Amino acid sequence: MPLQHLQQVSKNNPIGIFDSGIGGLTVANAIASKLPLEDFIYFGDTAHLPYGDKSSDAICYYSLRITRFLIEKGCKMIVIACNSASATASKVLHEFYGKEIPIINVIDPLVNYVVDHNYQKIGVIATKVTTQSNIYPSKIHALNPNIDVRPLATPLLVPMIEEGFISNNISKSILENYLSNEMFTDIEALVLACTHFPLLKPAIKAYFNEKIDILDSTDVVLTEIENTLEKYGLKSEHRAQPHQFYVSDFTESFEKTTKIFYKEEIHLEHAAIW
Ligand code: DGL
Repeated sequence: MPLQHLQQVSKNNPIGIFDSGIGGLTVANAIASKLPLEDFIYFGDTAHLPYGDKSSDAICYYSLRITRFLIEKGCKMIVIACNSASATASKVLHEFYGKEIPIINVIDPLVNYVVDHNYQKIGVIATKVTTQSNIYPSKIHALNPNIDVRPLATPLLVPMIEEGFISNNISKSILENYLSNEMFTDIEALVLACTHFPLLKPAIKAYFNEKIDILDSTDVVLTEIENTLEKYGLKSEHRAQPHQFYVSDFTESFEKTTKIFYKEEIHLEHAAIW
């Protein structure tokens, strides 16, 4: 059955992406470079950042409102570019909007990757809410109960990244503190289960002396986006407008950090949806 909202939008309409802050820009960057004909609208819910220490109910409420905003802006697909929202709100978003528009989360493609690549012992670093949801162990074990999954909440990393602390003494010392946990001594791979964390990938690789695989969702999510666009006949034929960036609260540090991580010049707009 065709999805309802899609009957009103053209294939050249933008993809809607959201996260609590700049983390989802790792996905937006990948779309901009690998799917150059696609426009997107990015929403950073800076008024509620970080999501990692919020309740599931609060994150569901925020995610529903943001999704409605993106649908009203004419988006043809929603990408939940946030593990915390994917872990807690994916189900409710599908219940409310799944008949209208395709919705992609960042967890399922990464879980499938881990299982398909036969890892036996993996570490997972994530926000508190993602860790407490137990989503990675439960989804991985549903496909292969023999994989040893070791999750650790690393709540200081998101505020640190939002402040632009990516490769200085403070970020190095906080990372070392988390990564030296003995649960990670014999892992084959570490899953970066937060879309902010790819920004720390070089530092994490260096910590492990490049000896283990560091997995993040960027590439696998991009493949999922492409497959879904294909499935619904939504692949854009040309760029129609510049990418748009909205935040729910305008902060200088967000603007500054965004400029460092997003490769094109961007203009942030305040969306007063709360
Ligand atoms: N980038 C998010 C995630 O993937 C958000 C983290 C947060 O706001 O705490 O979980």
